[in-house]
Amino acid sequence: MSVYPILLSQSKFMHRDSLTYPYEERGLQFGDGVYEVIRIYNGNYYLIDEHVNRLFRSADAVKIELPFAKQELTSLLLDLLDKNTMTTDGKLYLQVTRGSAPRDHVFPENVGPNVYAYIQDFPRNLENLTDGVSTITQRDTRWENCYIKSLNLLPNVLAKQAAKENGCYEAILHQDGLVTECSSSNIYLVKDGTIYTHPATKSILHGCVRMRVEKFAGDLNIPFVEEPFSTDDIKDADELFLSSSTSEIMPVVKVDGSIINNGNPGKITRQLQEAYESDAKIVNNSVSAR
Ligand code: PDD
Repeated sequence: MSVYPILLSQSKFMHRDSLTYPYEERGLQFGDGVYEVIRIYNGNYYLIDEHVNRLFRSADAVKIELPFAKQELTSLLLDLLDKNTMTTDGKLYLQVTRGSAPRDHVFPENVGPNVYAYIQDFPRNLENLTDGVSTITQRDTRWENCYIKSLNLLPNVLAKQAAKENGCYEAILHQDGLVTECSSSNIYLVKDGTIYTHPATKSILHGCVRMRVEKFAGDLNIPFVEEPFSTDDIKDADELFLSSSTSEIMPVVKVDGSIINNGNPGKITRQLQEAYESDAKIVNNSVSAR
């Protein structure tokens, strides 16, 4: 999963080894910035407009002014694929911070943001997508503005680490028993043919794949209800799945050691995975073909 040699820094392309940042950088010292992760299939971005729109929304929410217009950024990101002759499945990481300045909590004056982006190979995890994954539940200890894709990920990092230490793939976060999302993905419960998920309020990240899940559900005539479910509801769930740019639509078959749907990915989850593969134009390595 090595990083491709050419990266984007501000609006220029350069070799990854020539990128340097000073130690007084606001992303490093305060987590004062926002980011995006965009999936790449066969050398093409999936949902690039949705991600670019969300980056601008996040930047606006924390009062960082991006140095380019949306269209300009999109075309720079497309050039980044070309410059690296990227043709495989991968992902892009894009970060914008408030810039480099002497350490002081208040915003620096006359300092522009630091922007960089790089791409790397990232094969689909067909085993997990086919068999499903195990999860644990954790208290959601994050702040009120989780709709902002901020660099401040310490609670997410701790939750994900707890999942790993318990042999699990993800941590399902809850506030007083009501499930919000996961440490780095959105989550959904299926009961009696209906999909339930936390509403897109300030308490969760409005996932780009989540928007697609809603659309696929509409296309498939499956009711999609934005209503929070509880950790107790999980015990009686027919199906559970999560979504993100890196996890796609991922079946969840175990929560805190309890088995969901006899340990098998559910029918609706499979239908959504098929819709995803066709939307993302994934042709060769499909879950349904396994
Ligand atoms: N995470 N919720 C959280 C907290 C996330 O960090 C993510 C994405 C999502 C799903 O968003 P999307 O469908 O737009 O990828 C939901 C990325 C992949 C990450 O931080 O690596």
